[in-house]
Amino acid sequence: MKLAQRMSRLGTESAFEVLARARALEAQGRKIIHLEIGEPDFDTPKYIRDAAAQALAEGWTHYGPSPGLPEFRKIIAEQWKAERGIPCDADNVVVTPGGKPIMFYTMMALLEDGDDVLLPNPSFPIYESLVNFLGARPVPLPLGDENGFDLDLKDLESKITSRTKLLILNSPHNPTGAVLRPETVEGIAAIARKHSFMILSDEIYGRTLYEGRHLSIASLPGMAERTVVLDGFSKTYAMTGWRLGFGIMEKALAQQVARIQTNAVSCTASFTQRAGMAALTGPQDEVKAMVAEFRRRRDAIVAGLNAIPGITCRKPAGAFYVFPNVRAFGMKSAELERMLMEQAGVACLSGTAFGSYGEGYLRFSYANSLENIQTALHNMAEVLSVKAK
Ligand SMILES: Cc1ncc(COP(=O)(O)O)c(C=O)c1O
Repeated sequence: MKLAQRMSRLGTESAFEVLARARALEAQGRKIIHLEIGEPDFDTPKYIRDAAAQALAEGWTHYGPSPGLPEFRKIIAEQWKAERGIPCDADNVVVTPGGKPIMFYTMMALLEDGDDVLLPNPSFPIYESLVNFLGARPVPLPLGDENGFDLDLKDLESKITSRTKLLILNSPHNPTGAVLRPETVEGIAAIARKHSFMILSDEIYGRTLYEGRHLSIASLPGMAERTVVLDGFSKTYAMTGWRLGFGIMEKALAQQVARIQTNAVSCTASFTQRAGMAALTGPQDEVKAMVAEFRRRRDAIVAGLNAIPGITCRKPAGAFYVFPNVRAFGMKSAELERMLMEQAGVACLSGTAFGSYGEGYLRFSYANSLENIQTALHNMAEVLSVKAK
């Protein structure tokens, strides 16, 4: 078998590899605390599960329209217009099996060989993987803790070329938990208007926010037509396994993205879309409770990490990750990741899993119980205090 050349350019998410190593240790009887995987540890709220069961009983078991059920797209458009100020209606929305396909479909629809794509580094590894896969060129925008992991507008503007086609944004951000400052979002919009490139704005953590308000770049004047907003249900409603997400974009692009979806998977499962409708229109108390619990854990993990000599950790304003600086240990992040798994029984990710500028950092997901987080902090403090001596 001879694979297509492009397969050599496709990356992956190393969180799944770390999980496999953790499982191998667990199979030998070791106890591992999982702080590597980015999925809420809560169950999907019952009213959503009930809505899916009801949809199955009602016969929502057939193919549906490729862009999604019209009534679902209408609800999404109304809510995102009201809540985020994005000018849109149902025709701007494409429903997909998870938010991830929006990355794939929109990049397939927009990118040509040799196009430049600006993207924060570190960031969600699938962005860079897809850019490379499609023959475009990732151009890193380094993020650091010294300025709160905010994008540097001067750096951004200096990297624009005649080939710049797309900028990828993600706020609240995985892996740092940072939220772009409103003035940064305004500044990016001004640059995008001036140089006329598109934006893929991954807002999947937009409702997992502890401070301030989520500002979607698509809500700023003249930006809706050049922005694809990616969002979904995995994080907000603890629905990772359901595979339900969507994109909001210009109508002509929405039609092309739906056409790719027709070619790829036909449509998103009909009964999960019915459950998604219930999720959006039902009581939001459980979402609020999840965010409140994440906030408690965030406060605990930030305090605990900062109490370990050699670690400095900023308090993130959104998502459920912390990205502490561990340079003081003088080790590669990947070595530290292995050491913590093997000696402290704590699974986390090297910052380099999110790009080369993640060197010197680790990512911990705090989608785990407060009790497990406290145990992990205690075990890490012991292992790292020996290392520090
Ligand atoms: C930044 C970011 N975008 C998108 C996704 C994909 O989410 P989904 O489950 O909706 O495909 C993730 C999942 O980890 C993520 O962290």
